[in-house]
Order: sequence, then structure tokens, then C-alpha cells
Amino acid sequence: MRSIEDMFIGTTFKDFLLRPQHGQVLSRTKENIDLSMPLSRNIILRGAPIVSANMRTVTGGRMMKAMSSMGCFGFIHRRYSKEVQAEKVREVKRSQSYIIENPLVIHQEAIIGEARELIRKKKVSGLLVCESPGSMKLVGVLSTRDIFGLDSELVKNRMSIFTELICGYQNISMEEAELRMSRRRVEKLPLIDDDANIVGLITMKDLKMAKQKPYTTKDSKGRLLVGATIGASGDYMERAELLVDTGVDVILMDIAHGHSEVIKLAINNFKAKFPGAELIAGNIATGQGAKFLMDLGVDAIKAGVGPGKGCRTRLDVRFGVAQLQAVREVYLATEGKVPIIADGGIEDDGDIISALLIGGASTVMLGSMLAGTDEAPGLVENGVKMYKGETSIEASLEEFNDDENLEALMDDVQAPEGQPRPVKYIEGGVAKVIRRIRGHLKSAVSYAGTKSLIDAQKKMVDTPWLYVNRRPLTEAAKKESFDR
Ligand code: XMP
Repeated sequence: MRSIEDMFIGTTFKDFLLRPQHGQVLSRTKENIDLSMPLSRNIILRGAPIVSANMRTVTGGRMMKAMSSMGCFGFIHRRYSKEVQAEKVREVKRSQSYIIENPLVIHQEAIIGEARELIRKKKVSGLLVCESPGSMKLVGVLSTRDIFGLDSELVKNRMSIFTELICGYQNISMEEAELRMSRRRVEKLPLIDDDANIVGLITMKDLKMAKQKPYTTKDSKGRLLVGATIGASGDYMERAELLVDTGVDVILMDIAHGHSEVIKLAINNFKAKFPGAELIAGNIATGQGAKFLMDLGVDAIKAGVGPGKGCRTRLDVRFGVAQLQAVREVYLATEGKVPIIADGGIEDDGDIISALLIGGASTVMLGSMLAGTDEAPGLVENGVKMYKGETSIEASLEEFNDDENLEALMDDVQAPEGQPRPVKYIEGGVAKVIRRIRGHLKSAVSYAGTKSLIDAQKKMVDTPWLYVNRRPLTEAAKKESFDR
């Protein structure tokens, strides 16, 4: 096992800068720079190597779907009951990336002023119109063309009425939807059930975008790939069984201390029962921990103890390894044979690039950087959303009602290793964040002097001292680099 180089001991992402290399990319925008990286042994992420954290305030079904649609990934958290978690998996598995499942709706007695405000605020090109407040019965469509004129006019007097509309059904294929829309030269196809209740919406724009996104994380049948989290004790095997039966594509067995006998037993049980299932396990933060999980036959390893924005483990328990050191130790111990998810402590896009190119991670897991988006569970209040460490009192208390083991939970609550933090609300949703990260990753490939992200990693990761400052940055250099 190659041991960690001295220069990386005690370091994290902002301790190093990468030295610009002779660039090979002629145009970042015109050239197709490949950002594909492996999530696990059998799953490749083609959009960006980004994974949303399996946390209550980050990844429910909506985030999972958004991430896979963009060629990234997420893991549905395990704090749902197992039945609810399986239902979330089923919903995402059934959904298609180009269908808007909860389109914006206004009722026909509303006034045009209200509709205009909604269209402006949500930046959409139209609204579906329903019969009455709270009803989902489709009676018309209102587009931006229809909202000029008097604010006080009723929506029903300006909308295209139901009998003139062309509609689709819930499981309509991409091809059929496109055909219906282009035949009638419309841009929107409301999806309805047998009773004309709204069940979704397809827009020509989304269809075109889906066609231009060959990188969506999907299976051979074109369905989104879905991941879900389990623990290593209690009902984890029943949960796993339900998830596997529901069609989950990869399971993440996630516990705080993954270099332990508890997880060894659980992985062995899991593998005996589901020999073909893709399994990722964590968290560990040392080369020894990584080797231990690799020898148990997992398909990827999640690395990080205590770097997360919502963590208190290092403060209160004093265990942990500085995150760049941890990721690099894991890479060296596993010799690049198992994909690594660098989990926690990523504060900006530059940190992602360090984790991948110097650390040797294949993907990074983000919590706080995604918690402010619409797709993360939780409400926006005064321009912020609450991001809660999984073991924070605030997050644990949400479980009180359905937890059978109150005593154990009380211990957790008395000694939390997590804390809540407000994060800024991000307008534009997770797509905006991922697009920005993709742009920065492409720049990084160009600076690295290669034409793909995987080549950039291959070039740098085994001899990183040739490509970075050989000692951690001085305080002055850090100030020059990051103080803005
Ligand atoms: P970021 O920095 O992206 O980190 O917000 C996300 C990761 O933080 C971990 N996490 C915790 N760690 N106590 C901990 O020690 C907690 O309560 C806690 N909550 C989240 C987790 O690995 C997540 O992916």
C-alpha cells in the first residue's frame, strides 16, 4: 500500500493550487469536453461527477430525479420509513426527465394580474388552468401571449379552452409527445388522466433539451438511475429488500464509522442475500479503512469523517482526518481500483477540482452547496433554507414520532455530532449550480492540458507533486488566492 506523501499530511483542498499546463482544448464551449467519471464499479456519471448528500435537508425524491436528469447522482436519505423510501424510489424510477410532474397551475377565476405575476416570478412561459382553487381538473392553458391587457380581467376569458387543447397521457413516450406537439404546432402538452386531471406537462423546450442531454444518468430502458441509503443495523436488511424489489439501482450503506465490525457484518449479510446488487459503503477517512471496505468487495467507497458543514465530530469527539489527506490516503490504499466519493467539506467549485485531480476522488458528495436549491426539501424563509447536520438535535427530533427506539435517540440528541446552519436560497434550482460546476470543470480540463476530465486526473493524480506547489500555500498566498 503506497503511503501518503508528506506534503499532503494535514492538508485540505485550499492548501494547493494547480499549475497551468500546456492547453489542448481549442474552445471550451464548442469542443465536447468529456466530464464522465465513475460513481461506482458499474455506473458512470456523464454530466458532472457530483452526488447530492443522503441527508434529510438535501436529497429526497425531487433532488434525486433532478440530479440523475442532469447526468449527476444523489442518494435518497434513509430517515423515511422504509415504505416511504421505497415509494420515492418507485416514483423516480417511473418518472422521465423531460416530464414536469408538478406544473404551475392557476384557476380560471383568477385575474390576469395574478397570472402575470406568477409567470414573471417563476420565469415560465405559461400556466395550466384548472377549474377551481385546489382542483386539478384541466380547463385551459394560458400562455405569455394571453396575459397582455387589463390586470383585472379573468383568466378564463383569455385562456385557450380545454376543447381546443391537444393533451397527452401520463406515460407518453418522448417520440409520441413530440409528434403530437409538432403536428399541432404547439409548445406545450398537458398530461391528463381519464378524468382530465392534470398529471404533468411536457414542453417542446424540455424535449429538445432532453435530446441534447445524452448524459442523463439512465438505465438501458431510458429510466433514471436511482440510489437509496440504508444503515448497517436495525431493519437495514428489510429496507434493502424492499428497495431492491422496487428496482433501486445502487444502495449506499452509510454509517458514521465505516471502518468497523458493524459494517463488515452488514456488508457480508447484504452480499449473501443480494449478490448482484451494486453496493457503496462508508464513511471512512484512512487508507486502512478504505482497504478494509475494498476487501469486503464494495463497488465504491465514500470517504470523509468530520469535514461537512453540518458536522461537529471533529469539534466534539476530535476524530477525523483533514479531507484532502483523507481522500488521497484512500486513493493510494485502493490503487485506483475502486471509485471514491469525496464526501464533505466542499465549499466551492475549486475544491471539487482539487478533490478529483489531486486527491484521486472519482466523484464528490455535496451537502451545503445544494441545500439552498428548490429541489432540496425544506422551506425558504427570509431568503435562506435550513441545512441540518444529520445528527443535529434539530434533524433528530423530526424522527421522534416514528422512532421505536426512543432511548437510543435520546442519547443521540444529548450528544449530537451535527448542527443546523442557514444556507442562502439559490434561485434557478440545482440545474443552475450544476451548469456552473460543469463550466468550471471544463476550464480545469483545459488548464490541465488534456481533453477530458478523466485524462486530467490520470495525468496528475499519481505524481501530483509535479503539478502543484510542493508545500501547502503560505498564509499570504492563500490570501492572494482566496481573499476577495
Ligand atoms: P458538506 O460540507 O457538503 O458535507 O455540507 C456533507 C456531508 O456532511 C456529513 N454529515 C455529517 N457529519 N455529523 C457529522 O459528523 C452530522 O450531523 C452530519 N450531517 C452530515 C455527511 O457525510 C454529508 O454527506
